[in-house]
Amino acid sequence: MTVDPAPAAEPQPTDGIEPEPAAAAEIAGDRIEVLRAFAEDLGARGEPLGLIGPLEPPRLWTRHLLNSAVLAPLLRSGSRIADVGTGGGMPGLVLAIVRPDARFLLIEPMERRCAWLREQVDRLGLENVEVKRGRAEEFHGAFEVDQVTARAVTALKKLVPITAPLLRDGGEMLFLKGGSVDAEIEAAEKQLRRAKAHDIAVEELGGGLLAETTRVFRATIR
Ligand SMILES: C[S@@+](CC[C@H](N)C(=O)[O-])C[C@H]1O[C@@H](n2cnc3c(N)ncnc32)[C@H](O)[C@@H]1O
Repeated sequence: MTVDPAPAAEPQPTDGIEPEPAAAAEIAGDRIEVLRAFAEDLGARGEPLGLIGPLEPPRLWTRHLLNSAVLAPLLRSGSRIADVGTGGGMPGLVLAIVRPDARFLLIEPMERRCAWLREQVDRLGLENVEVKRGRAEEFHGAFEVDQVTARAVTALKKLVPITAPLLRDGGEMLFLKGGSVDAEIEAAEKQLRRAKAHDIAVEELGGGLLAETTRVFRATIR
């Protein structure tokens, strides 16, 4: 006797999602409605789809959406930006929402995550985003961008060699990093030299706006 498999359960909305902080509207400006629409879907489906961990819904805005969005002022208008390892959308999709004046390539190897990102691009009507399935290394030589972003992908020592070849001469790395960034820079000394990284700096973003500031590693490739 064969038994039909039970139909897959629809992901259910998650309770306990962080209410939108007051700073969100200030950071997202006239794009706040689009960011809210993304927040709503990520809050409802992100955990069941494995895009965010079970502890994340209560800090969805602070730790994820706004932590990503504070990078926006560092992006150049008209710039072509590759976000490596976008996962559920951070920071690349969030930045594409708040910076419609820049173009984004979201590079992500996992098909399920790419399907989610493409669904969001269609649903939110974003015209400045292309989702590229694959590892960053697979796109070396395929295109060049002005800026590259990443969050929570790998340590700087590994991140620099996989992202530097995506940048044009004079292009910039912008990586969201935690408290270990200084140690990561020290450990990546050889990789940064090989990549011809200059003007290396760590900036603290979100001060005066967010309860938690965000640390960003910046470097230019020459
Ligand atoms: C921990 S998740 C972080 C996702 C997202 N950036 C965030 O902050 O929520 C790391 C992501 O990087 C992707 N990844 C890992 N190695 C990669 C590579 N070499 N090139 C591009 N993406 C990569 C993984 O598939 C995964 O989606």
